[in-house]
Amino acid sequence: MVAKKIDGKQIAASVIRAVKASAAALERDTGVKTGLAVVIVGNDPASHAYVGAKRRMAEECAFKSVQHTLAMETTQEELASLVETLNVDESLHGILVQLPLPNHLSSDPIIQSILPEKDVDGLHVVNAGKVATGDLDGGLVSCTPAGAMVLVKHKHGNDLSGLNAVVVGRSNLFGKPMAQLLLAANATVTIAHSRTKDLPVACRNADILVAAVGRAEMVRADWVKPGATVIDVGINRIAAPENGEGKSRLVGDVAFAECAEVAGGITPVPGGVGPMTIAMLMANTVVAAHRKAG
Ligand code: GUN
Repeated sequence: MVAKKIDGKQIAASVIRAVKASAAALERDTGVKTGLAVVIVGNDPASHAYVGAKRRMAEECAFKSVQHTLAMETTQEELASLVETLNVDESLHGILVQLPLPNHLSSDPIIQSILPEKDVDGLHVVNAGKVATGDLDGGLVSCTPAGAMVLVKHKHGNDLSGLNAVVVGRSNLFGKPMAQLLLAANATVTIAHSRTKDLPVACRNADILVAAVGRAEMVRADWVKPGATVIDVGINRIAAPENGEGKSRLVGDVAFAECAEVAGGITPVPGGVGPMTIAMLMANTVVAAHRKAG
């Protein structure tokens, strides 16, 4: 079973080694230090944990790393004004506004106000549009699908011709760009979601099954085609009283142990897609810095 595990932590570490080398080369050759700004509004503990991990990784890559922590009561205008300041700051090559924002703020106008060349999250319509039209090198690809794709290619190589891929989930943040990246690699792609008739049957058709449903351990062993590659994008915290263990634990959207018996390769949670997302954020940031330096 262990041999089937696709180790996102290890693969992310090799991406980070390449990012460090690239940032060091840029600084040596041009004097430009790669810069990343992360903005967080409010005090959601999970979001703070993610942002902390991003900041620490940026520091490990020897980037200039800036974090703006804004109060829950921050207004739309104040947040927009901060993004404007970061847009014109020449020492910053990447800007990430952690989502979700508090309910009184609209995330879309904020995301669309980030300069596309600094949108290292890959969420600006210009970057999303480049992915949708197959221009994968011209813009910045959204980090979670980009990271999931590295894991798929680690298992299958760059050309997915003849393989059926099923993405469960149709969000702008993940499902749609993931489907487009799989399509660009020649997979035959289905996007399934909560309204799909007979999800288990749709999933059993997948040589590559990507789960981003947001429901703990929803994908069961009998949803998985024998030998399939299973990529679990879910991060769900199971509360202590429910799991009877005295402390909460993280699980994915896939019932790992039982699906690992059937799958040919499977990503764990934690230690699968999560570390890849952060690694791809660093990769996008150093690419943005190189482009700016010309
Ligand atoms: N919140 C959860 N995942 C993400 C992400 O990839 N980017 C941003 N900005 N916020 C998130």
